[in-house]
Amino acid sequence: MIFTVAIDGPAAAGKGTIARAVAARFGFAHLDTGLLYRAVGALGGDPVLAARGLVPDDLAREDLRSLAAGQAASRVAVIPEVRAALTDFQRRFARAEGGAVLDGRDIGTVICPEAEVKLYVTASAQVRAHRRWLELGGDAAQVLAEVVERDKRDSERATAPLKPAADALVLDTSDMGIEQAVARAIATVEERLKA
Ligand code: DC
Repeated sequence: MIFTVAIDGPAAAGKGTIARAVAARFGFAHLDTGLLYRAVGALGGDPVLAARGLVPDDLAREDLRSLAAGQAASRVAVIPEVRAALTDFQRRFARAEGGAVLDGRDIGTVICPEAEVKLYVTASAQVRAHRRWLELGGDAAQVLAEVVERDKRDSERATAPLKPAADALVLDTSDMGIEQAVARAIATVEERLKA
């Protein structure tokens, strides 16, 4: 069976949690596409060459979760040649036999516009920054500033900007909490699988 669940949205909206839960529930493979950009940013040097030469070990680095790695990822992600170098891998993953969940910024709009289910997971910048701060600690005001800066760069770039696909179901997790968002996502996939 070929079945893609595309989950997009801004930083710390809950995409990863929802993606992992959906993948576990249906036995689908999961790809956190942010890790690809984080690895390219962390490798340093020429980002286009880094993207073209990316290997699985690069995604296992321990330093990829930090705020600094997120910022570096967002900076290399504006480069069209970097995005192009990562496209085929993501498309093959999305359409591989057995079902796949991909979370990122442009999965439903650019990588897999034919995805069977498209979710756009969002929340207010304050709620998202608070979640990131609970996870990583540090200075709360600085965490909020970084979240806002990253959102702005990701949504204003010319190539594959962050935005909901026209046919995406928007889940605002500001008030609903993550368990409820997971339940909505699972129900949506179940419905589409039955259709
Ligand atoms: O999801 P994340 O926070 O790990 O993503 C880090 C950065 O990578 C994000 O700020 C922008 C970029 N990114 C992207 O441009 N496209 C994607 N599909 C995933 C991430």
